[in-house]
Amino acid sequence: MMVIGHRGLAGLAPENTLASFRAAAAHGLAMVEFDVRLSRDGVPLVLHDDTLDRTTNGTGPVAERDWTGIAGLDAGWWFAPAFAGETVPSLEQVLRLCLDLGLAVNMEIKPDAGRETRTAEIALALALSLWPDSAPPPVVSSFDAACLEAARRVAPHWPRGLLAEELPPDWRDRARRLDAAALHLDHRALDAGQVAGITAGGLAVRAYTVTDPARAALLREWGVAAIFSDYPHSS
Ligand code: G3P
Ligand code: MG
Repeated sequence: MMVIGHRGLAGLAPENTLASFRAAAAHGLAMVEFDVRLSRDGVPLVLHDDTLDRTTNGTGPVAERDWTGIAGLDAGWWFAPAFAGETVPSLEQVLRLCLDLGLAVNMEIKPDAGRETRTAEIALALALSLWPDSAPPPVVSSFDAACLEAARRVAPHWPRGLLAEELPPDWRDRARRLDAAALHLDHRALDAGQVAGITAGGLAVRAYTVTDPARAALLREWGVAAIFSDYPHSS
């Protein structure tokens, strides 16, 4: 079972910063997940929340600030003073760093309301222009079906993961419509029977966000292909 660094390696460095991706590589992880959203002026950047408040020294909605205003914010101090000076990275910075570090990536698209298709199109156009065919193709995931439909249209050859907090009863239809290769599910709402059914249907299960090694071992037993983790514990 693979361990995918969640937001880089969010337990050991400020989430979704370049330091977090470097930490993931330094701890031997082969793949990282991160969250992509748009600034007001349409620059794809890597930050989880729809507001700046929790993980930067800024405030207010990301979608109401231009990239130049976001790029100057501190995104490390809140985590620990040693990380002061870490910034909110652009998607371009993150993709280039992951390529340099040899990290495979899962881009999770987090759109703000009304820009679902646009967020995916912009993020994927940039990624397609940067990511070489020689590297493992990025996994594109989202809780939002419109984002995944756009991903299917723009980058049909990149695998898609359908995110859900709980397995929807119509998961087969949803996954088929989006031609998804995997379901990315909250491990807390997951059970062995669901994993068996999904894998029997030809899809991989990736479970977020797992920090407890005993839980990770159980998920592995069930047949979960990968976990997203804030820590680089063994699997
Ligand atoms: O992509 C897996 C996981 O990151 C989904 O939840 O809220 O951490 O983005 P969240
Ligand atoms: Mg995420």
